[in-house]
Amino acid sequence: MRSQLEMDWNKCFALRTALMRRSAVRELLKVTARPEIISFAGGLPAAELFPVERIKKALTAVLDRAGGQALQYSATEGLADLRAWLARQFSNSRLQVRSENVLITTGGQQALDLIGRILLEEGDRVILENPTYLGLLAAWRPAGVKFLPVACDANGLRVEDCELLLKQKPRAIYCVPNFQNPQGTTLSLARRKRLVSLVRKHSIAVIEDNPYGELRYSGRALPNLLELDARNQGAGGFDSRVIYTGTFSKVLMPGLRVGWVIASRAVIEKLTQAKQAADLHTSTLSQYLALELVGQGFLEEFLPVLLENYRERRDAMLAALGKYFPKTAIWTQPEGGMFLLVTLPKHVNTGALLPAALKRGVAYVPGEAFHLNGEGKNTLRLNCSNARPDQIEAGITTLGSLLNEICT
Ligand SMILES: Cc1ncc(COP(=O)(O)O)c(C=O)c1O
Repeated sequence: MRSQLEMDWNKCFALRTALMRRSAVRELLKVTARPEIISFAGGLPAAELFPVERIKKALTAVLDRAGGQALQYSATEGLADLRAWLARQFSNSRLQVRSENVLITTGGQQALDLIGRILLEEGDRVILENPTYLGLLAAWRPAGVKFLPVACDANGLRVEDCELLLKQKPRAIYCVPNFQNPQGTTLSLARRKRLVSLVRKHSIAVIEDNPYGELRYSGRALPNLLELDARNQGAGGFDSRVIYTGTFSKVLMPGLRVGWVIASRAVIEKLTQAKQAADLHTSTLSQYLALELVGQGFLEEFLPVLLENYRERRDAMLAALGKYFPKTAIWTQPEGGMFLLVTLPKHVNTGALLPAALKRGVAYVPGEAFHLNGEGKNTLRLNCSNARPDQIEAGITTLGSLLNEICT
């Protein structure tokens, strides 16, 4: 029995908190962090590749050069030099990005959260890939939006299926065109062009979330949606229906918590107002550190190392799946990124199977969590960036023998 002095907090919380829940993946990560487990669960980069010594030097250089300035409050929009660096990186003959088109955020996740805050009203409809990124669902669900899921195939979001849904007048389309989480698939060039012409015709905002785009191991890089849609406006930068989000989490380190939005100036202005209320600004020290690294050309040095290692891991996983998984299983063939999605025969419930897998020392994420409408019970997401190739071989062997027991 609750004593009279005890507060019943559940009666105090705002109604929208009923739509908040912990992420199944983040909860699972607590279990899978045990050293004896080979984990294919998290979307984690390989920690042993983090350039610790280089970061120590960069941190010292920042503090020597900027001193107290690097530890001070700073502008909500982000460090001017970091914004300018990003503007240069994203500019090309088709797209003219100015610093005013860039907002620095606390990881890509905050970018998605802020975009939800400025765009969405209760009851709004949002088109997205099914399955999709869990963090987006967590950020936007409390706004009381209705998600309109669209199936994906080997070429990503089935854009032709979006057309019918446009009759429901959605407020936005959320899409991860490169090496999607959880499927690892990439939106084809033809579909990119079709999506852009569709949103132009219907004046709908597209959120292009691209945390993995730089991690391409095979195939040809494709233009991003922002580039395909934007119209240059001289000194004003550009205008576009696309709001692009990026991050250093997957190419440098997630602990930095530095991401960004690139969008039309009006969008950046509104997002800046929302960010001011959320956290004043992204960590000044993290931004200085990121700038110190990328400004000195560190990514050109480090990215090839990452790509070589991750390509090897992806190949090891694809080879092991072919050798050890049941013949009735199928999986996506990612050209980059960190994930692939396995589909098993209909009777297999990957959520129910997880405890047995953990007991044998292997972790994955049951696919249902990423799906809307309760689909995907017979799917599982595998991360291929965190474990070493020998661990991948061992983990997939173990998981394959478990699956073979129930699939035959
Ligand atoms: C699709 C997608 N978007 C955004 C993020 C957020 O990344 P961060 O907040 O670490 O920059 C992630 C992280 O896993 C992701 O998979």
